[in-house]
Amino acid sequence: MKDAISILKSEHRSISAVLHGLKELARMAQDAKVRPRFQVLRSMLRYMDEYPERLHHPKENDHVFSRLVAREPAARLLVEELQAEHEEGARLIRELERALLFFEEGWPAGAREFQQTVDAYADFHWKHMRKEEQQLLPLAERALTAEDWKAINEAFAANRDPVAGLQERDFEQLFSRIANLAPAPVGLGASWR
Ligand SMILES: [Fe+2]
Ligand SMILES: [Fe+2]
Repeated sequence: MKDAISILKSEHRSISAVLHGLKELARMAQDAKVRPRFQVLRSMLRYMDEYPERLHHPKENDHVFSRLVAREPAARLLVEELQAEHEEGARLIRELERALLFFEEGWPAGAREFQQTVDAYADFHWKHMRKEEQQLLPLAERALTAEDWKAINEAFAANRDPVAGLQERDFEQLFSRIANLAPAPVGLGASWR
């Protein structure tokens, strides 16, 4: 009945893996003698911009949040907070893109600012996902009915239809591209040295 919960949690794991990688690369990029391969940083930002925005947040907003508020009005405050965080996340990613552009054009200047923006973004996103896993999902598990879960699972499965399925495959490709480009210990790509 609750496949939808495991799908959301597994998407959180993918987002979290990219955040860990991004933080580590931002740390490595502090060495002013070694020019980072900016391509992988750009791919990671693209992933963060599109995967939560186009795939993950709509699932939460359109299918889980609205049903939960209908069944459990006391959840409204929490749901509104999480929705506001979805919007804040979209704004923060623009800041991150600006910091990366500045860093790439001004290298080695801008490294510190880039790392600070990455760290703040990762902390923000982890806090958001923790709130969903520790507060929202348990509430949904208690309040939603079998009928709700059936409808949610069907809506999530529709993401696997030929048209939307293309989207999910795109993200898998982007994820492997990141792993192939990123140097150790983040991925399998060539060292920056
Ligand atoms: Fe969310
Ligand atoms: Fe989420």
